[in-house]
Amino acid sequence: MDFGKEGSLSIEPLDKILASVPNAGFGDLIPILQKIQAAYGYLPPSVLMAASSRTGITASRIYGVATFYEQFHLEPHGRHTIKCCRGTACHVRGGRNIIRAISRTLGVEESETTEDMRFTFETVACLGTCFLAPVMMVNNDYYGHMTSNKVKDILERYS
Ligand code: FES
Repeated sequence: MDFGKEGSLSIEPLDKILASVPNAGFGDLIPILQKIQAAYGYLPPSVLMAASSRTGITASRIYGVATFYEQFHLEPHGRHTIKCCRGTACHVRGGRNIIRAISRTLGVEESETTEDMRFTFETVACLGTCFLAPVMMVNNDYYGHMTSNKVKDILERYS
């Protein structure tokens, strides 16, 4: 495994997390991963490998859980998360234009994070608010009946 930049990350926060869960086993994995993500901002591969060797939970099981749940990020994540809907109801009302406007405004493609770590841009199959189509979310805020012109103003609210 290529540890890359993460190879120099401190393992101290991980040790504190594991100290709070004596005899950690597979059943403790989700809360442990949540704590690792809270401490490091994401799940660095080198920290996951250290967690594996310290707990005895195999790396493949740890990665299985880390990649199954949307809440976990294996790469550094921006301070704010944009979710733009690409579902049918939004698509027929111009959702693709909103996706393009976000990409253009931030200079990133879907699933990427801006260099300043301000935003991670994701698209999702449905935000469950089709009556607001086209819709995007920033963190927990919904923005419905979106137009391309609104994108820049909305994103400027998040520093
Ligand atoms: S299709 Fe966009 S919110 Fe449901």
